Amino acid sequence: GATKVPMSLLEPKAYINYQRIEDNLVIIRDRLKRPLTLSEKILYGHLDDPANQDIVRGTSYLKLRPDRVACQDATAQMAILQFMSAGMDTAAVPTTVHCDHLIEAQIGGAKDLERAKNINKEVYDFLATATAKYGLGFWKPGSGIIHQIILENYAFPGGLMIGTDSHTPNAGGLGMIACGVGGADAVDVMAGLPWELKCPKVIGVNLTGKLNGWTAPKDVILKVAGILTVKGGTGAIVEYTGPGVESLSCTGMATICNMGAEIGATTSLFPFNHRMTDYLKATKRDSIAEYAKRFQHNLKADEGADYDQVIDINLSELEPHINGPFTPDLATPLSKFKEAVEQNNWPTELKVGLIGSCTNSSYEDMSRAASIAREAHEHGLSTKSKFTITPGSEQVRATIARDGQIAALEEVGGLVLANACGPCIGQWDRRDVKKGESNSIITSYNRNFTGRNDANPATHAFVASPDLVTAMVFAGDLRFNPVTDTLIGADGKPFKFSDPSGNELPPRGYDPGENTFQAPPADRASVQVAVDPKSDRLQLLKPFQPWDGKTPTDLPILIKAQGKCTTDHISAGGPWLKYRGHLENISQNCLIGAINAENGEANKVKNQITGEYAGVPATAAYYRDRGIKWVVVGDHNYGEGSSREHAALEPRFLGGLAIITRSFARIHETNLKKQGMLALTFVNPDDYDKVRPTDKVDVLGLESFAPGKNFTLVLKHDDGSKEEIALAHSFNEGQIEWFKAGSALNLMAKNAQK
Ligand code: F3S
Repeated sequence: GATKVPMSLLEPKAYINYQRIEDNLVIIRDRLKRPLTLSEKILYGHLDDPANQDIVRGTSYLKLRPDRVACQDATAQMAILQFMSAGMDTAAVPTTVHCDHLIEAQIGGAKDLERAKNINKEVYDFLATATAKYGLGFWKPGSGIIHQIILENYAFPGGLMIGTDSHTPNAGGLGMIACGVGGADAVDVMAGLPWELKCPKVIGVNLTGKLNGWTAPKDVILKVAGILTVKGGTGAIVEYTGPGVESLSCTGMATICNMGAEIGATTSLFPFNHRMTDYLKATKRDSIAEYAKRFQHNLKADEGADYDQVIDINLSELEPHINGPFTPDLATPLSKFKEAVEQNNWPTELKVGLIGSCTNSSYEDMSRAASIAREAHEHGLSTKSKFTITPGSEQVRATIARDGQIAALEEVGGLVLANACGPCIGQWDRRDVKKGESNSIITSYNRNFTGRNDANPATHAFVASPDLVTAMVFAGDLRFNPVTDTLIGADGKPFKFSDPSGNELPPRGYDPGENTFQAPPADRASVQVAVDPKSDRLQLLKPFQPWDGKTPTDLPILIKAQGKCTTDHISAGGPWLKYRGHLENISQNCLIGAINAENGEANKVKNQITGEYAGVPATAAYYRDRGIKWVVVGDHNYGEGSSREHAALEPRFLGGLAIITRSFARIHETNLKKQGMLALTFVNPDDYDKVRPTDKVDVLGLESFAPGKNFTLVLKHDDGSKEEIALAHSFNEGQIEWFKAGSALNLMAKNAQK
């Protein structure tokens, strides 16, 4: 049909393209001749080349055309700096940037926000001006957490989105395939390249029965995490099906999808239903709901679709769960939790309960929590533990301020934090316990690895529904079970909490609150991107040099790395993340965690010119500044871990030519190629042992660089002897052009000028 429905009210000219899904699926059905799962329909409906794409679940790599991109402020910095160097006028697909990660919780929402605006001024100014310049949507600090803003404004059934944050799958609650990716993937899609994804396997979770009592949507994912463990979803999309889906609110489904990141899943997804329609209408997107209805045959799984694994959960029998400590997959049903606390000697006193965050801050969550707080208040109680509330968005904050939930939560001692990640990402100036002191906290967040919330490795962090967290802060004790136990009211009489209750959606509609969105201006040409040349947090990128056409000879080995070398070893996190927008500064962490095979030490390598030992980054810079290219030799699965693009940018920035390993983690290998580095592997992995750290090497074969054609590495040992060994590579034609141009972005910039 000719209907044009915008993806978002904020982007009236970017339309939903359900017809493409329909057309693609005609081709795919003809080829595969089998029923399709929901995620297959949406993914294959976004294929770049449906007629020729290889489709084998768990094996082939799909080339996809996402509908949009979202970036949070920490990861956006380098992504946008890179995008800028592609020389394009605007992003190829609608893109938004969200300021949520850099706001530290200290004393409460408004003051914390003001402080963060000062501390991060240059980052916010950069993002505000760069998004304006390049036509991207900008959500200012205080607007809320990326995943909630996406759900409220941008997610739609059947869409495909990538986001530079692991909990991007939250949008699955609105039937969108939304995947967390690294900055490099975001840059590609913004620059108009297809996005590559290993064709996911599909895990079906069949829900029957009905949620009731103290059991909340969160308990579905807590249970699933217990079954599948933190690795069980790797390479798979988790698709929820069955009649039980109807008993979940849209925001509840989002909670389940959000925390699906904890089992390593590519994403999680629900079929389009009337609960989504209700949410779309409440957020003023009736037209999307109606349009989705017309295409709903593509927004649910086919009858008889085949799943790689099926899990059955009866919601009527599902108990509330508490997961943790230290890992999100240690799931204990509420009825067994007291026993578990005692058996494991977990600290029984509950120090802090934290509700909200991107995972659990919906109107429904806040209303149910408020119902518990009100009941406690009626019995004259205040919280025994500290209690914080993080609204997921300004819209939710304003609405629960208007409708009284905030008052109810504050009345019992709750502290409302800024609409931002805060303690969920460790932005928490926690003062009530000392570092190293063993203690317990419980959150309605998603992730609880050691030290995540407060950087204290002795903090036992548990994860539960906001209902349970709220009930527990009145007991101040982890062993409390609100389903069976009583508390003593101010009148000395025992009482038991009623089942929590609350509206799924605000009966009077949402209050948008303060306007925290900046749309791109009509005149973008006059916008100057704000980067202070003296900044130590931000630095514009200079294009890398193209290949000089010469055969590289007599290159020193910067380091022969031994054993595990993850992206954390190559580009450490922690305090270094402050410099993620400043390539020169963050390059001071390049390979400082890698173990030198020569001496078994980290960050101590011999400078082959001076003969002196020094740190890896300083040695690399020494070579670079004298025009000497260098290589790194690595072990198995080099670059495993995160998709952090800095791990590829840094060696390139410091003048590296090639990384030569026994094998690569695929994403890092691709990231290296994108930055114009040679990623090479020993044809015979044992040849790793032939390399001596003091060798000089020639890399032969660049003049006839072609897919499938090996290189030769000449090892010139310092005793004068030589050895030749074969190196393989996985570059395709297009990637070879990246190398020649100096980087993928250089090539794009060149093409953009044509
Ligand atoms: Fe991540 Fe922020 Fe949520 S840190 S888990 S997006 S609250």
